[in-house]
Amino acid sequence: MTEQFDVIVIGGGPGGYVGAIRAAQLGLKTACVEARDTLGGTCLNVGCIPSKVLLESSEKFHDAAHEFSKHGIEVKPSLNLKTMMARKDEVVSSFTKGIEGLFKKNKVTHLKGFGTITGKNEVSVNGTKYAAKNIVIATGSEVTPLPGITIDEEKIVSSTGALKLPAVPKKLVIIGAGVIGLELGSVWGRLGAKVEVIEYLDRITPGIDNEVAKAFQKILEKQGFTFHLSKKVTGAKTTKAGVELSVEDAAGGNATTVSADVVLVAVGRRAYTDRLGLENVGITRDNRGRIEVNAHLQTSVPNIYAIGDVIQGAMLAHKAEEEGVMVAEIIAGQKPHINYDAIPGVVYTWPEVATVGKTEEELKAAGVAYKVGKFPFMANSRARGAGTPEGFVKMLADAKTDRLLGCHIIGAQAGTMIHEICVAMEFGASSEDIARTCHAHPTLSEAVKEAALNVDSRAIHI
Ligand code: NAI
Repeated sequence: MTEQFDVIVIGGGPGGYVGAIRAAQLGLKTACVEARDTLGGTCLNVGCIPSKVLLESSEKFHDAAHEFSKHGIEVKPSLNLKTMMARKDEVVSSFTKGIEGLFKKNKVTHLKGFGTITGKNEVSVNGTKYAAKNIVIATGSEVTPLPGITIDEEKIVSSTGALKLPAVPKKLVIIGAGVIGLELGSVWGRLGAKVEVIEYLDRITPGIDNEVAKAFQKILEKQGFTFHLSKKVTGAKTTKAGVELSVEDAAGGNATTVSADVVLVAVGRRAYTDRLGLENVGITRDNRGRIEVNAHLQTSVPNIYAIGDVIQGAMLAHKAEEEGVMVAEIIAGQKPHINYDAIPGVVYTWPEVATVGKTEEELKAAGVAYKVGKFPFMANSRARGAGTPEGFVKMLADAKTDRLLGCHIIGAQAGTMIHEICVAMEFGASSEDIARTCHAHPTLSEAVKEAALNVDSRAIHI
């Protein structure tokens, strides 16, 4: 007889596995289908986690080579890339096993294989059919291909190949100055590669507050990044030595070639719905191929939900996790809610860039009257002491009510500091609330308090 579940989640990434565990916690009989051999999705296997491991390792190498001497520590490091990569693989595999353990503990059935929706209440996994009262699509995203460029994961790589290069390339050319390009460019740049970035737009990191993005670009340039903005790649030729890219102005004209040992294509990701069987049940997609959902994350078929990268919104693991939990709770009869304005975004470069809420450009475009408070880490004693004075905190508050509307931080540990603002925004706090909260001295977080004070032009240390 066909095995029956209350919930079948298709996809074992951060959205899918977290949603499956939450559903099981709520007493629902739950299965999670995953086509990869291991759980954790793109994020754990070939994304967030391995990239952060390499960012940590490469930062240590870079610090030992270039920063330690400023502190009076004289060392000459040499790189053992094999060990660095093995450590990354070990961290990843410990976590994939960890999720297996969490599934066992919570009694989530792990269905190994490729899942296809074959009916409103039926999922087929490698040909075996399972019945489900509810189905959650959490199939994530895939690399957006670039016309004229074939990824071979050796000389022309996606983020997956860039996480396992066998040697440090002399010259790495990255197509796309987004989050993936800058994080992985940082890894290989710190290990000795010359990094050049070709970006279609006239700025880096679209979507990030302009002022922050400009400061970010300057700091990266000081680190050795070269940016070619307003340029597009029209083709690539693999040679014995490497790759020859054909490049021209974004608007056309001025054709040139750029050579590289390795090229990383990082021009975005797109919803992944291949062979999912959406047509079998009539689930609709938008013009960017994303599954359309309502405010309760239901697709056009009410008992089939979709979460994470496969629907609209930021392609972030933690956004997918929140949605996985929300769907599980909705199925269990609860009334959860996600405040999409309080979802942080972090770029894990050095320095880190962390943002939450609206950017100044978004507020301007929406015609919202706002106040700005800024504070530079140069004036923060802890940052100066640590030798990390780069960057600033920028806080945006409603001009009339003082309610916090956004915060953008570029600086060491920005990704940790931003959460104070996320909590504050979740509670509907004002900048005055942050300004009146005692912050320990000496900490980097004092810069957040000072930025809040400066919304009212009353920072103490500038
Ligand atoms: P992205 O959307 O962040 O950046 C892609 C960049 O490529 C953009 O600046 C875009 O203007 C540029 N571009 C597009 N077509 C181009 C072309 N033909 N020539 C030159 N430039 C072109 O995408 P990315 O970096 O690939 O990341 C994919 C997704 O993964 C994003 O949604 C990102 O937020 C997410 N991600 C998040 C991370 C984090 O939160 N730390 C880490 C890595 C990825």
